[in-house]
Amino acid sequence: MTLNPKLTKLLNEQINNEMSSSYVYLAMAAWFEGTPYAGFAKWMFAQSREETMHALKFYQYVVDRDAKVELQSIATPKSDFQSPIDVFEHSLKQEEKVTQQINDLFEVAEQVKDHASKNLLLWFLNEQMEEEKTVRDMLDRLKLAGNDPASLLVLDREAGSRPAGGGGGKTDFGGDR
Ligand code: FEO
Repeated sequence: MTLNPKLTKLLNEQINNEMSSSYVYLAMAAWFEGTPYAGFAKWMFAQSREETMHALKFYQYVVDRDAKVELQSIATPKSDFQSPIDVFEHSLKQEEKVTQQINDLFEVAEQVKDHASKNLLLWFLNEQMEEEKTVRDMLDRLKLAGNDPASLLVLDREAGSRPAGGGGGKTDFGGDR
């Protein structure tokens, strides 16, 4: 079954969205590298790799469906942040935006009755749910920690225990959950 042109265009855009997301997280990792929070830096770096894997998953899907891959340019990501909370708030917004993009893609896949694409997009929707939850949980705990250095360092250590990633899947903070 030939991939619908509108769907092909949106899937190509999603390759770009995921690569852009990877860049956003890499900028966050770089910002944390300039702070004492080595664990958060490691977590953001792992998340950047995971987003690249998402892009490659969409890339491979377009190739496997015998459609044309069309890569686009990636915008400069935000690189200045005020605090760990500020970074994670941006991360949550980023994930909510991607969830919306994938939701929209799913709707188009449904309209054109492309069930294989719907299947792929369902995997991504579950992944997004997990990512949003992870970031929201961390935000809640960062707010609880406030300006207490000891609590912040506990959260940082927990974030640093995240595996290097790259496989596309687990986004959690390791530790107690
Ligand atoms: Fe692949 Fe978190 O968006």
